[in-house]
Amino acid sequence: MLRGDAVCTSCHDRHDFPKVLTIGRTKHGTRADPNTPTCTSCHGESVEHRNVPREVAERPKPDIFAKSPPGLRDGACLNCHSGGKRVFWHSDTHPARGISCTACHEIHNGGHDAVLDRRTQPKVCLHCHKPEGVHLNRHEGKVICSDCHESHGSGGPAMMNRQTVNDTCFACHAEKRGPFVWSHQPVTENCTYCHAPHGSNIAGLLKVRVPFLCHECHEPGGSHRGGAPGFGIDPGATSGNNILFARGCMNCHTNIHGSNNPTNNTGSRIFTR
Ligand code: HEC
Ligand code: HEC
Ligand code: HEC
Ligand code: HEC
Ligand code: HEC
Ligand code: HEC
Ligand code: HEC
Ligand code: HEC
Ligand code: HEC
Ligand code: HEC
Repeated sequence: MLRGDAVCTSCHDRHDFPKVLTIGRTKHGTRADPNTPTCTSCHGESVEHRNVPREVAERPKPDIFAKSPPGLRDGACLNCHSGGKRVFWHSDTHPARGISCTACHEIHNGGHDAVLDRRTQPKVCLHCHKPEGVHLNRHEGKVICSDCHESHGSGGPAMMNRQTVNDTCFACHAEKRGPFVWSHQPVTENCTYCHAPHGSNIAGLLKVRVPFLCHECHEPGGSHRGGAPGFGIDPGATSGNNILFARGCMNCHTNIHGSNNPTNNTGSRIFTR
């Protein structure tokens, strides 16, 4: 009597289904591991399916196959993978929209599960998320979707893989965390007030060009009306003198993410030193 995988592989040999047995080359094929699944862990016992003689054309489907409802298919995976990163799976946007584990993971692909490979992962995500990552700019090639997003759900905003957007960015841009002696309020709140995490056509991954970016929150001119103190120019203007300055406001307000100058003087408070 055949047992384990053999009840299935007696028919699903290399010849009939060339890709099926490549699962042996994946982590799901590690025979030494007692937790390794057999065919029936994922497809169900499939008694009716397997008891029809080989040469019969019409046979019932296995208990679980590609077209089974997503919840049923995922349930088989979650029998073994409900812990770790999957603890938020049930509150994730993906299953709520009928996207199952195997929309991202390829099980019978000879050990190349594209979503686990940094080079091929964006392609898997972009299959459904066309507008994202059009140009990740300096992030391109260095940062991939899963550096910021927890695909299995995180409980955080936009499936960030840390608690907040900023914490996610700090994983690599720790110097922007501070604490600063003089902090710029929007920076401590959310990097995406100014930056487009998926890329932009503007240098520095900025959403809007400086000075317009600053003018979204600061009245053009402000206390500069009539000229920045001691400089005789009006950086609040959008043309004229300030176009001589390639980085506009940033020429003076260089430490836009916060200042660590300990002295309580104007320069520190306004991030020019
Ligand atoms: C007696 C031969 C035989 C046995 C034993 C057998 N299968 Fe199949 N299976 C087939 C054939 C033939 C097909 C393709 C035709 C069809 O879908 O009916 C198939 C199709 C499938 C499919 C694809 C279904 C689909 O439509 O997407 C899966 C999955 C599958 N089998 C899993 C299993 C599993 C798991 C076992 C062991 C529990 C098993 N089979 C045992 C003959 C068999
Ligand atoms: C870790 C879970 C898992 C294990 C173990 C597993 N499968 Fe599958 N299998 C799947 C999933 C998921 C699909 C459907 C792929 C998809 O959604 O496109 C599939 C698809 C198939 C198909 C259809 C493939 C095709 O080309 O149409 C067959 C046949 C099959 N499996 C047989 C087997 C056999 C035989 C075994 C044991 C040697 C096995 N599977 C082990 C998850 C598994
Ligand atoms: C019977 C238990 C069991 C079932 C069912 C199961 N897995 Fe696994 N899976 C394992 C084990 C054991 C490993 C290898 C050890 C590890 O990485 O945790 C593993 C590893 C993985 C990995 C990591 C592979 C790698 O190369 O690092 C992925 C992805 C995965 N499984 C997805 C799935 C999906 C999707 C399903 C459902 C279609 C599924 N598993 C069903 C036990 C299972
Ligand atoms: C939206 C795409 C996507 C979906 C849907 C998805 N995964 Fe993943 N999975 C990934 C990515 C990306 C990684 C690698 C990065 C990481 O570890 O977060 C991964 C890694 C894994 C790993 C190996 C690392 C680990 O956490 O142990 C396992 C196991 C796994 N997924 C299982 C599952 C299961 C089970 C489901 C369904 C309940 C599922 N995945 C659904 C994208 C996805
Ligand atoms: C099979 C299609 C599909 C694939 C593949 C896919 N997604 Fe999604 N994803 C969706 C759908 C549908 C939504 C629901 C929102 C929408 O319509 O855009 C979604 C939503 C999201 C959200 C927003 C969540 C929220 O709550 O705001 C993020 C982030 C996301 N996906 C990241 C990823 C990443 C990263 C990958 C690759 C590892 C990926 N997705 C792969 C279909 C997919
Ligand atoms: C540098 C971090 C980062 C990377 C890399 C990244 N994202 Fe995002 N993503 C975010 C942030 C932050 C948000 C929250 C929305 C916002 O404020 O712009 C988001 C939002 C999303 C959303 C929700 C819809 C939306 O646009 O608001 C989807 C879907 C998404 N990302 C998919 C992806 C995919 C797919 C990739 C890989 C091609 C990717 N992201 C790479 C940071 C990132
Ligand atoms: C996985 C690490 C990683 C994460 C997470 C990350 N970044 Fe980056 N970021 C980088 C790398 C690497 C560069 C390129 C540095 C270089 O080329 O000098 C970069 C560059 C940048 C730049 C400069 C772009 C330019 O064109 O000058 C900005 C702005 C930026 N990241 C913002 C963010 C924001 C906002 C987040 C969070 C939503 C974030 N990053 C998350 C690694 C990361
Ligand atoms: C008030 C708007 C604003 C906010 C909010 C903001 N930035 Fe920036 N960021 C800028 C500007 C302006 C530049 C300079 C672009 C240039 O020099 O062309 C910049 C440049 C950068 C750079 C590249 C140059 C450098 O200084 O390293 C990184 C990395 C960066 N920001 C990360 C972040 C992170 C992480 C956050 C959230 C903690 C954040 N930024 C929040 C406006 C902002
Ligand atoms: C998303 C809104 C927002 C954006 C965009 C923004 N800021 Fe601010 N900024 C603030 C807030 C809020 C404060 C704190 C105001 C307060 O404490 O009265 C602040 C404070 C400042 C201060 C210190 C002023 C003071 O009186 O303490 C300077 C200087 C400054 N911002 C310059 C800039 C520059 C230059 C830019 C463009 C690169 C910019 N900001 C973009 C919201 C923003
Ligand atoms: C030539 C240097 C210089 C340039 C360029 C410059 N600033 Fe300033 N800025 C200053 C100085 C000096 C102060 C301190 C004024 C004071 O409080 O006495 C200041 C103060 C500020 C303040 C805090 C006072 C207020 O008005 O609320 C903000 C906000 C500000 N600048 C925004 C900007 C923006 C936005 C730009 C670009 C359009 C810009 N600055 C360009 C030098 C400059």
